[in-house]
Amino acid sequence: MQTALTKLLGCRYPVIQTAMGWVADANLVAATGRAGGIGFIAGAVMTPAEVEQQIQAVKAATDAPFGVNLHMYMPGADQIVDHCINYGVRAVSYSRSPSADLIGKLKAAKIVCIPTVGAAKHAVKAVALGADALVVQGSEGGGHTGGVASSVLLPQVLASVDVPVAAAGGFKDGRGLAAALAFGADGIAMGTRFLLTSDSPVPMATKQCYLTATPEQMVVSSVLDGIPQRMLHNRYLRSLEGRSKLGMLATAVNNGMAFSRMTESSLLAMLRSAWQISRSGDSSFTQTLMAANAPMMIQQAVVAGRPDRGVVPGGQIAGTIGEIPTVAELMAQIVAELEQALDELAALRG
Ligand SMILES: Cc1cc2nc3c(=O)[nH]c(=O)nc-3n(C[C@H](O)[C@H](O)[C@H](O)COP(=O)(O)O)c2cc1C
Repeated sequence: MQTALTKLLGCRYPVIQTAMGWVADANLVAATGRAGGIGFIAGAVMTPAEVEQQIQAVKAATDAPFGVNLHMYMPGADQIVDHCINYGVRAVSYSRSPSADLIGKLKAAKIVCIPTVGAAKHAVKAVALGADALVVQGSEGGGHTGGVASSVLLPQVLASVDVPVAAAGGFKDGRGLAAALAFGADGIAMGTRFLLTSDSPVPMATKQCYLTATPEQMVVSSVLDGIPQRMLHNRYLRSLEGRSKLGMLATAVNNGMAFSRMTESSLLAMLRSAWQISRSGDSSFTQTLMAANAPMMIQQAVVAGRPDRGVVPGGQIAGTIGEIPTVAELMAQIVAELEQALDELAALRG
């Protein structure tokens, strides 16, 4: 199957495994590449050295193309971009408004720039800044998410931009891929569905929480950092909702220090990064300070396997997934379902 997205990204099928902090590691990305999709390493919660090691690990496992996700204002973003260029990474994804310098550097190296956007105006801005393609995430999606559902947002974006588009937010199968193609998109991008495979590193105790959730329990909350994120409404999230603003800020300072230790960046570099983000107009300074909450609290659930002590980010689709296939099985099933859906649609014409 060829679409504008497979041509741009060099993959066999128009299916992207999106970056997910602590989840999208070399193993998951390589499994996705081998199965014909394209995966993105979750570089935004890694040190530049870790990103380099993950890139090397994917390259050792497969010749398939893959991408890296980064946060344009994170300390070390420059070095991560250099690694992507030196190792010939196919694509880079990001979600914050990028620095023109970094985008220019990536484009000069012929690396595909494919940001995620959650609103039509952000899609237009991202393309104006140089995006070669977009992941358009409807509100159903996991992690940070906008307020407009895929069925409304996707046609709105498709009418406003002229680059290949992958639909994200609420996709899990070949029928969803057929629907996205029917909308005029060039493929799909999925996070939660790939998280719930046996190739993802998330401990089973946490995967079990997603499997037993209902779509209604995958709620949007701004309690972590003031920016809406979709996650499981578990007991831990309810306890956060009960905390005062001052209490949350104190937690953020603690988490900020832990995050700076983990990513080997100085507190000063983190504060500088927060200041740059607030100047870019995306979030307030307080919001960006609070941003350290999210990775540390997510880490408890998705790395440490303690969903009772952390937040469990995921899309509404988690509430409809009941099994943990390998990535190869998942991709084979998606392709078979897509073919069946296309045959059924063609048969409607008589
Ligand atoms: C556990 C988790 C972690 C995520 N971390 C990131 C991240 O580090 N960077 C990013 O751009 N998006 C992140 N996201 C968003 C996903 O990349 C993707 O856009 C979203 O999951 C798509 O919606 P879906 O879950 O319905 O497939 C995360 C999502 C989840 C579920």
